[in-house]
Formats: sequence, C-alpha cells, structure tokens
Amino acid sequence: MRIEGVQVLEAKLLDKVRLAVGRTELRFEPERSEVQWPLSPHEHFGDALGRSLVMRRLFALLERAAPTDSPVIIEGDAGAGKEVLARSLHMRSPRAEGPFVVVELGASSEPLMESDLFGHDVSSTRPVARPGAFEEASGGTLYLDEVSELSNPLQARLLRALETGEIKRPGVGGTARIDVRVVASTQRDLEAEVKAGRFREDLYFKLSVFRVRVPPLRERPEDVPLLVRTFEARSPGAQRLSDQTVEMLSRHDWPGNVRELRYVLERLATFPDLGASTVSRALGKNLDASGDESSGARLRAEVTSQLLALPYHEAKERVLESFEKTYLLEHLKAAGGVVTRAAQRAGLPRQSVHRMLRRLGVQAGDEG
Ligand SMILES: Nc1ncnc2c1ncn2[C@@H]1O[C@H](COP(=O)(O)OP(=O)(O)OP(=O)(O)O)[C@@H](O)[C@H]1O
Ligand SMILES: [Mg+2]
Repeated sequence: MRIEGVQVLEAKLLDKVRLAVGRTELRFEPERSEVQWPLSPHEHFGDALGRSLVMRRLFALLERAAPTDSPVIIEGDAGAGKEVLARSLHMRSPRAEGPFVVVELGASSEPLMESDLFGHDVSSTRPVARPGAFEEASGGTLYLDEVSELSNPLQARLLRALETGEIKRPGVGGTARIDVRVVASTQRDLEAEVKAGRFREDLYFKLSVFRVRVPPLRERPEDVPLLVRTFEARSPGAQRLSDQTVEMLSRHDWPGNVRELRYVLERLATFPDLGASTVSRALGKNLDASGDESSGARLRAEVTSQLLALPYHEAKERVLESFEKTYLLEHLKAAGGVVTRAAQRAGLPRQSVHRMLRRLGVQAGDEG
C-alpha cells in the first residue's frame, strides 16, 4: 500500500490523503463531524428568545441537553445571552428545584476564585469558614462564568473535582461528594485556547459534552423585533416603537448585543418623541456617562422608579452594570483612555478591565 506515494505497512489516517493499493487509488477524507441539529419549533428556550434559524438550532440542542446531567459549554460575546441560556437550561432540567450558582472566574484573584469554588477555612482574614460554590450548588447547577480565565492550577483542581466527583474540603478535612451539573461560559473560542496551550485539553473534553456558540446579535437581525416587542410587553406603560424604528434597530450592529439593546430600549422609553433622531441619539449615546447635573438627577429619578418595577435580582444586575460602567469610564477618562493605566488605578488585572469594557460595549485602546 502506498500513501501519497510512500510505501507503508500500517498507518493512521488523520487528514485528507490519497492511498494506493495496487493500481487502485482511494481518496481518504474525514467527514466534518459537525452534526446539523434540527430546528426547535419554539421561538424561545425558557427566558431566552430567538426566532432566527441559528437560535432555533441552538434551542433544539439545549432542549436535548436539558434533561441530562452532562456539562455544557456556552460560547459567545458579551451580552449575547450566555447566562440567560444557562439559567433556562437549569430551569428545564431535573435540577430545576435545586440552586443555580454563578461563579465569576474572570474578575478576581486566584486565591479568591479558589475559595469561591472550593470554599475556605477560618483564617486571620476570614473569621468564618465557608463552603464553596461546588457545595452550595449541590443538587443544582454550577455556572462557571468566563471559564477560559481559570489559572492552570485551578484548571487542574476543577478537572480533578469533575473526574472524581469529590472535592477536598479546606481545613475541615476529608472530602465532600459533589452533585452538580456544570455549565461553563466563555467569550473566547475555547478550542482555540486549547490549541494555543492556554486551556487544558482534558478539561476541555470533560466540559464540552455539549458545546454551543451564541452568535452576536448583528448576525441574527431577525431576533431584534421579537426581542423589542417582548421587552416592550414586559414593561407596562412603555411606548410601542413604530415598525420603522424597530427596522432601524434591526440594522444596528449592537457591539453590546442583547444587553445593549435593553439599555437602548430603556433610554427610548424615557423620550416622549420617538423620531429617527431620538433613536440615533439613543444608539449613539447609550454608553455616554457624561451629562449635566440636572439631567443626571432627572435620569436618576427615572432609573429608581424603573428599578423598583424590576424583580430584585434583575434590579441588582442593572445597578451593578451601571456602577461598573461609570467606575471604569471615569478611570479610563482619567487614564487618558489607556486601559493598562486605568486597570492600575482600579487595582484590577488589565485582562479583566478589557473584558468588562467589552461587555459594556466600550471600545478602548490598549497600551499607551
Ligand atoms: N435571547 C435572549 N432573550 C431574552 N433576553 C436576552 C437574550 N439574550 C440576552 N438577553 C438579556 O440580555 C442581558 C445580557 O444577557 P446575559 O447576561 O445572558 O449575557 P452574557 O452572554 O452572559 O454576557 P456577559 O458575557 O457579559 O456575561 C440580560 O439581561 C439577558 O436577560
Ligand atoms: Mg454573563
């Protein structure tokens, strides 16, 4: 037998090759392993809405994954809807009655992340021992946000926990059995992170039993009218945008994805006149933190009444987001727009600041 003209006895075929046996030539070509899932008949998966084909395909896959205990990886840009999908997956799973616990792996230091996940013992700085998220999420779902940001040692520890189904309890001694379903999210392409040597391949395999990517909103403009109309219906008293305006919103490129769309809608709801110029103003200024005193006060009053109309967790998320935005933009302004310097001022890793800014849809320069 010859492969690409070379005589061989035995060979493992990985890529496209021509092999010849006697005078017969065969072409070997591995099939692309991507399975085309059918479309979900629904325009939502739990709280996550979507009528585009990509979203309905994604819903179909999650519908399949929901009743299982298998880990899921959700990839997608900031604000694209990873967490809302993860929550919906939890709500549609047999663990729905159990807790849904979120651990943010991007923004904190390694020791903090470690104790967030695995708990910590009494120490000089922490007077009370606390179980970690693995134990808190027992019987439910553990959402590992920004899993690509995990350090090497923590990747190893996470893998061990998933493989053995137990964790070592800090201090207390002994081990605890874990009973969680893990859903991990990332803004990066995790396979590429593996190839680049930044993410452990074995952990990637363990986590990616189901792997989905939420496309950015600009790649699914058909979803915009559905989102707009549903959000409108949920906020009583909000003015209904004209079809023309919705059409205009569908053509925007939404760097902050669905989160940005929600902000813009809130902003629009506070303007009495919904002409085209108002819309472009809302789109253009939606991340502008500046404003004079009186309009600031007016906005605050409006915001407070809007917040009270929301359930606690959602209101808290809103406040945190707007705090993050103001805080980071102020530091960024003071740092002349240089992220590295803004990060130093805020005492945060540069990567985290980049990620937070991306999430807020802010474009910023890097080194200065
Ligand atoms: N498909 C959707 N249907 C309804 N609401 C959505 C959808 N996608 C996102 N949202 C809403 O947009 C906001 C941002 O979504 P979410 O927090 O899930 O994004 P994310 O991908 O986790 O973002 P980040 O990477 O910044 O954490 C939330 O208020 C969420 O409810
Ligand atoms: Mg998120």
